Amino acid sequence: MARLQRLLLSAALVVLVCAVDRNNFKTCDQSSFCRRHRAVRPGESPYVVLGSTLSITDEGVFGDLLNEKTRVFFTLELYPLKDATLRIKINEKNPIKQRFEEPYALVGGSQTEQFEVVDRSEEGFTLKFGSSHAVVKAKPLKIDVYSGDTLVVSANARGLLKFEHYRNKLEGEPQAPEGEEEANAVLEDEEDTNGLWEETFKGHTDSKPHGPASVGMDISFVNSKHVYGIPEHADSLSLKETTSTEPYRLYNLDVFEYEVDNPMALYGSVPVMVSHTPKHTSAIFWHNAAETWVDIKKLPDRNVVSSITGFFSGGDSDPPQMSTHWSSESGIIDLFVMLGPRPLDVFRQYGLLTGNTNLPPLFSLGYHQCRWNYNDEEDVRQVNENFDQHDLPMDVLWLDIEHTDGKRYFTWDTHKFSNPLEMTANLTARGRKLVTIIDPHIKRDSNYFFYKENHDRDLFVHTKDGSEFDGWCWPGSSSYLDLTNPEARNHYSDTYMLDRYKGSTLDTFTWNDMNEPSVFNGPEITMQKDNVHPGLGVEHREIHNVYGMLFHQSTYEGQLRRSEGRLRPFILTRAFYAGSQRSAAVWTGDNTADWNHLRISEPMLLAHSVTGITHIGADVGGFFGNPDAYLLTRWYQAAAFQPFMRAHAHLDTKRREPWLFDAETLSIIRNTLRHRYQYLPLWYTLFYENELTGAPPMRPLWVEFPEDETSFDVDYEHLVGSALLVRPVVTEGSNTASVYFPPGVWYDVIDLTKYTGPSSTTVSAPRDKIPVYQRGGSIIPRKDRVRRASSLMREDPYTLVVALDAQDKAQGTLYIDDEHTFDYRQGKFLYMGLSYEKGVLTSHRLDPSGIYETGSWLERVIIIGLDKRPAKVTLNSASQGTQVLESSYENGSSVHAGRLTIRKPGISIKEDFTITIQ
Ligand code: NOJ
Repeated sequence: MARLQRLLLSAALVVLVCAVDRNNFKTCDQSSFCRRHRAVRPGESPYVVLGSTLSITDEGVFGDLLNEKTRVFFTLELYPLKDATLRIKINEKNPIKQRFEEPYALVGGSQTEQFEVVDRSEEGFTLKFGSSHAVVKAKPLKIDVYSGDTLVVSANARGLLKFEHYRNKLEGEPQAPEGEEEANAVLEDEEDTNGLWEETFKGHTDSKPHGPASVGMDISFVNSKHVYGIPEHADSLSLKETTSTEPYRLYNLDVFEYEVDNPMALYGSVPVMVSHTPKHTSAIFWHNAAETWVDIKKLPDRNVVSSITGFFSGGDSDPPQMSTHWSSESGIIDLFVMLGPRPLDVFRQYGLLTGNTNLPPLFSLGYHQCRWNYNDEEDVRQVNENFDQHDLPMDVLWLDIEHTDGKRYFTWDTHKFSNPLEMTANLTARGRKLVTIIDPHIKRDSNYFFYKENHDRDLFVHTKDGSEFDGWCWPGSSSYLDLTNPEARNHYSDTYMLDRYKGSTLDTFTWNDMNEPSVFNGPEITMQKDNVHPGLGVEHREIHNVYGMLFHQSTYEGQLRRSEGRLRPFILTRAFYAGSQRSAAVWTGDNTADWNHLRISEPMLLAHSVTGITHIGADVGGFFGNPDAYLLTRWYQAAAFQPFMRAHAHLDTKRREPWLFDAETLSIIRNTLRHRYQYLPLWYTLFYENELTGAPPMRPLWVEFPEDETSFDVDYEHLVGSALLVRPVVTEGSNTASVYFPPGVWYDVIDLTKYTGPSSTTVSAPRDKIPVYQRGGSIIPRKDRVRRASSLMREDPYTLVVALDAQDKAQGTLYIDDEHTFDYRQGKFLYMGLSYEKGVLTSHRLDPSGIYETGSWLERVIIIGLDKRPAKVTLNSASQGTQVLESSYENGSSVHAGRLTIRKPGISIKEDFTITIQ
């Protein structure tokens, strides 16, 4: 009996330790501003536009907004921007203290589109810009944004706008702000006054010296049934209604053992939501870096106001819509509406605002081997060698916090890592790189150079009382860099100079962790909101969600500086915000070695992808716990077709390098890694195109098949670019997978089984198989001679895989450069357009301004879907004239596609050519 009890107890403990401690994190009800916004009743909006105040300048339209209940005035600003984007700003007109406007996310958004204001009357006006227009209704405020004649987005249609103006606190009773126009101002009749001026959570009191200052509004996507984005949540791709759950929360947090399928906040926040319908894609960017909550409601609903009619909805006759309700703790309302109309348009429009992912160095798209921790130089040496011995490609080896001298970043444990330069040289000799971890909590030790320098120059975050903030993290008592201070950023960046970061080289790259920031003894494991960042002179609450980005941006700057701007940086960050894509890759933090976490990695990475964060991955194998061989191989297979591929494991887990498993597992992992490396030219080309256009390399199906409604809520499949369909196996014990094939022809990349979509099929997926399909109509460049690291494959030859569509056509692109410098921005690159039509494969320079000398040549062309053996295959090019090529043909069947393999065209890949099949 006692034994049984012990067993039950230990089982209960396992359950306990395996789940997040929800008590550590606030619910909406425990966050007073969220509660106040959720309590706003629709249909009673007191905000009206004062028509007489309207002014029109070269930039946009400006006017006053009055809250008729409180008599407080606000400003309404409308900026029509290039590329079908409208910016809507609402701010206090005469605040007693300036309201914070987030200054770091935007790199664009200032180019005005031609516009005119028409139909101006007491009721409102219409702003026409490009082929879009916005109808602004004055009483109450409502802004309907149209793309062409289609109403796409409607702001304050339900009347949930609530803007808490700054006010002075009088003992007992709040006081109206001073100022001429607000002389008669009264305060909102807050029924719920709990938490207006002070809020306590789990023993932490937020002093809220400026009182309530939150902002919120409803934003409806008309005719939409699906909205996506707002990472980071471990949830489905198509976001769920929150009517009977918590809202989705955006507040960067270090969540221990996070749960899947729920809207709790995680490490990063991108307040961008994309709506997609068969006819229209649009998006909004709620530009605010304070704690934010988002409710989602599917309409029509009898209890709400229709955004079309402005009256209570009768229900069924209204078009469907996704009505979302946003609230942030402070700052202003700064809303960008991007009107598409297609998915790729929205990505470009958002990229114009916050930038695109910079083309990463190629090695960062290879395989990364990490664990907490590789113990010492001998361990690193052995791991490095074992990868070669077992014929496993690997590009980067990672060192976690234990490599430092007592978690003092930029230092080494001199016993275990006495000769980091030699250790790094051993890696680079095999074409590999090193990543070391650098976190933003700095050990409070006056003998530690980096602490002392920052302390002496007063570059740390302060408490509300003005002293240096002391929080608990890995090193124990720590101070946190005030990254709003340009001097702190600059000084931190400089610390990457090789003469300051001793033991580092130009092949040492960086992992920025714990940058939410994580504070073990802080409220919700993060920093007190009333801490002060002296740099900008703001409370932490204003910039919380952007803190992590400031850190990794400064790391990026540091890596740029140390090579005088010549080499591309590589940084991995855990915390992120809108714009993080400009300087870092992101991973999904501390997942767990279980099937649910493998499963959720797909929709999580897709949610990042559609909001600009495109260089993304999840810890392969799961961070906590010990994956069995089956889970581990499935995880490798999934990650091999996701943008960032790194294996990582917690300090307490068993070692799990591939050779520690049985021969079958090792062999599956080897093949999977080889697969990854074969497709590197595709990934690299996609990332180049991502930098140019904003199009994410990892895509939800609806991005390529915008009219195919079945694809709108597919969670466990994705496309690599437009050409590869990937369906990772994410269920335990499964030897099959049900695959949804979108319209068109699809070929299994291994056995050439042919599928025609739209259709759903259960395919066989034994342990060694990941279902991956090449789209008919695509041409994919591959490098089939896989070596131990990507840098050793630079001059290797290419294989082009041409997969024919129903019209026997195909298209693709190939991008090539030196793979690690910025020289491509000076024109040292090749960008080739590949097409196949009427039996002729053509390669030509797509961007003639790019020139790059490469030794790579064309080794093989594979044509899939050709239904008969050709009589003759000829190559034609300027340098080689006309030549007959050797080829072999395998017949197809009703199930399998026929395949033509053309051997050794031998031509340099940089040359234009045609190959004719007769
Ligand atoms: C938390 C990170 O999420 C994890 O990946 C890392 O290993 C530990 N910190 C230790 O640095």
